[in-house]
Amino acid sequence: MTKKERIEPLLTAEKIDARVSELADQINKDYVGKSIILMGTLKGAYIFMADLSRKITAPTEIDCLKVSSYGDSTSPISQVAFDQKPSIELEGKHVLLVEDIVDTGHTLAYLRRYLESRKPASLKVCALLDKPSRREAVLPESEYIGFQIPDAFVVGYGLDFNQRYRNLPFIGELIFEDI
Ligand code: IMP
Ligand code: MG
Repeated sequence: MTKKERIEPLLTAEKIDARVSELADQINKDYVGKSIILMGTLKGAYIFMADLSRKITAPTEIDCLKVSSYGDSTSPISQVAFDQKPSIELEGKHVLLVEDIVDTGHTLAYLRRYLESRKPASLKVCALLDKPSRREAVLPESEYIGFQIPDAFVVGYGLDFNQRYRNLPFIGELIFEDI
């Protein structure tokens, strides 16, 4: 049967912008007198990182990393591996990991372990979206969360389905309908 994709709006561009401003205000307060390394996860966080970084007033360095997770339908544990590691020195620096979405949490658990091993002065996580009902990994609570959302597959504002929809200015639920 053929499926048609439909996108049900969930978070408008205005709502996202207002929340990104609130997150940046909180980060600006928490990092007074410090400089930050904003570490974005490609590709999903590229728009969030661009918007958030322009609202941050502390001295900031920007870097990106890229990971892939290799799911296996027979195993609940997905394997995470780097496609691109951070390119700047992190030791002694204040690292703020900028994530698009925390779903099962395996990616974030892997990244927290890796980044801690690089001995930063501090490591915090800013995730735009959080799906707590899907969590499998044991994880500390992310320090900054944009929105908690229900268990739905969402696209837009950087998030994709098969590399599509990242450029939508809003976030919506991707729904498959029989036609
Ligand atoms: P994890 O399950 O927390 O390890 O999330 C792995 C990755 O899956 C995230 O960084 C996203 O790239 C992707 N992902 C999880 N949920 C969604 C979604 O609803 N839409 C698009 N990508 C998602
Ligand atoms: Mg991601």
